Amino acid sequence: MPEDRGQWSGKLGFILAATGSAIGLGNLWKFPYITYENNGGAFVLVYIAAILVVGIPIMMAEVLLGRKTQLSPVGAFQNLGKNKAGGQAWTAVGFLGVLAGFTILSYYSVVAGWTIHYAWLALTGRLVELSSDPQALQTYFGSEFLASGSSQVFYHVLFMGLTTAAVFFGVKRGIERVARILMPFLFLILVVLVIYSSTTEGFGEALTFLFRPDFGSLTTASVLEALGHAFFTLSLGMGAMLTYGSYMGRDISIPRAAVQISALDTLIALMACVIMFSIINSADIDVSKSSTILFTTIPTVFAKLPAASLFNAMFYILIGFAALTSTISLLEVVSSYAIDNLGWARHRATLTMGGAITIFGTLNALSLGASSRLSSINLIGRESTAGLFGTMDYLASNWYLPVGGLLIALFAGWIMNPRETRQELETGHGPLASFGIWHFLIRFVSPLAVGAIIVSVILGKEYN
Ligand code: PFF
Repeated sequence: MPEDRGQWSGKLGFILAATGSAIGLGNLWKFPYITYENNGGAFVLVYIAAILVVGIPIMMAEVLLGRKTQLSPVGAFQNLGKNKAGGQAWTAVGFLGVLAGFTILSYYSVVAGWTIHYAWLALTGRLVELSSDPQALQTYFGSEFLASGSSQVFYHVLFMGLTTAAVFFGVKRGIERVARILMPFLFLILVVLVIYSSTTEGFGEALTFLFRPDFGSLTTASVLEALGHAFFTLSLGMGAMLTYGSYMGRDISIPRAAVQISALDTLIALMACVIMFSIINSADIDVSKSSTILFTTIPTVFAKLPAASLFNAMFYILIGFAALTSTISLLEVVSSYAIDNLGWARHRATLTMGGAITIFGTLNALSLGASSRLSSINLIGRESTAGLFGTMDYLASNWYLPVGGLLIALFAGWIMNPRETRQELETGHGPLASFGIWHFLIRFVSPLAVGAIIVSVILGKEYN
């Protein structure tokens, strides 16, 4: 086993790092706006159901594949595919994961970089100034900030630098340490912002919107969207959880960890909704359905409330922290391939892969300015919008993750022997009474649900 693999210090280390991977722009940006667009209540319930019947089972499958082989995706499938139906062809699932990690990181870090710029704008007071006129804020975002190639590249490179530095120092001293510092902070900032939003008059309305279901407004498209999002938000389908599972000790319960990570991820997504809907309701402004709400609407709303600069800055720092623990996991998938399969030292692997992604991402960053449809950028969305950036996003969200997830579910449910999977799930847990339920979900329910997403993409039915 390559020396540079490493291990978590224990259960808490794994839970924090994996939760850090799961919680990111998906929770703080995408979930609130898709919940808003899908009319709250019923959509939230469907989303929770998707987490339970598809998310948790696939997360358990990924982690068990990683821990069993102590290898990252390519090595894991190479190893387990031997002597099984399909044989070495399963290795392609691992490569798909590496490709997805590369692709997602190349645009995710561009958006993550925006948070640094906006935190800076907030701290210098400029954001409050701009927010006095909603139109000025929109113009600043679209025509000034996005259009500036040098700014886009600068913040992207900065964010990639932070990500690479964390991965460079290894599993325990880099990835886990960053998660240990940032995750409690992130939670604290969220709690402060939830308390803050509970003092606003829009709080009650936000809770009603979120928790009072109106099933009449639910469409097939919303159900598919909730499913697709469950995937993205839990970092599933590309081997991130598999890779993190490969650094996990045999004394930890996989089922319990999967439930805890998913519960924390969902809790934080809901807290983000409470914060955003409360402040939006309080200011009584018209929210455009644009997914850029985080940068063009939220500051306007904060500006109407006390201590605007401080809360604005906290808000962007929070999003930046959340994004960093996610970008770290994306880079780790790509780097661990070089460590496990090419035999590279960790330092060489992270610098080379981090460097390559930084360069490729620079093209994404520049394509934003070149695109004429800036206002409709739809990160992690279903449509192909702004140039190369949009194409990368489209490929990852529509193809790589669902296809990867489907194949992972099929492999764990149909190709692996139930004795093998049961044994791994019971290691560190004890007899698993719900094994039958997991096995049923992973064999039938998850593949059908993920298959539905893929079919809808093939048929060109956009559900965003
Ligand atoms: N789960 C992250 C989010 O919600 O923002 C995104 C992500 C991270 C997806 C890592 C996939 C991944 F491997």
